[in-house]
Amino acid sequence: MVLVDHPLVRVHIAALRDRYAGADVFRRHLTALARLLAYPALADLPTEDVSVETPLAEATGQRLSRVPILVPVLRAGLGLVEGFADVIPDAVVSHLGLYRDHATLQPVRYYSNFPQDRHHHPFILLDPMLATGGSASDALDYLKSEGARDIRLVSVIAAPEGVERVEVRHPDVPVYTAQLDERLDERGYIIPGLGDAGDRQFGTV
Ligand code: PRP
Ligand code: URA
Repeated sequence: MVLVDHPLVRVHIAALRDRYAGADVFRRHLTALARLLAYPALADLPTEDVSVETPLAEATGQRLSRVPILVPVLRAGLGLVEGFADVIPDAVVSHLGLYRDHATLQPVRYYSNFPQDRHHHPFILLDPMLATGGSASDALDYLKSEGARDIRLVSVIAAPEGVERVEVRHPDVPVYTAQLDERLDERGYIIPGLGDAGDRQFGTV
């Protein structure tokens, strides 16, 4: 697991935790965090040389060898898309519908949409909450079954149980998070956490 630490990351995490932050404020801080997480999470993307014409001369530069596919896990992962798309404007966005059954805590998959030409592209799985790790593990199983080979997982707040579960089942997938919290409660919520990330973003509390 890569713990992304930065003064601004800590500031935005505290703002997200605040139970009195409304959906608009919550979304703004989540987007800012996504931008900060994008830099370390994308630092090893392969690039290739490209030549460009400036108004005055020829220059050489770089472009991404393969455009990444952003995979937000519905619903909460949607809040990380804008920040990543800001820095990779031509990224493909493939939504993955998955929710955690409240009683069993088991992931239930209900939607996906991937481009045909996906096999050699890097996948960035986006979900702010890594709690039991059931949803992330299932999402990674699914991405691999769809042909993904180069995958990174980006979360915002993780519980030790979730990190361990993903790292044991998917040791090939780097996990980036902004905060490692203490534990899970008896309902599988991260403590201290921030509550239900989907509800907080979309006002369905
Ligand atoms: C949340 C979160 C993760 C999952 C994490 O989604 O966005 O997908 O829970 O929990 P886990 O690590 O124990 O699986 P939720 O099921 O609340 O769906 P929602 O975003 O649609 O509300
Ligand atoms: N999903 C959330 O949104 N929050 C938690 O604390 C755990 C799972």
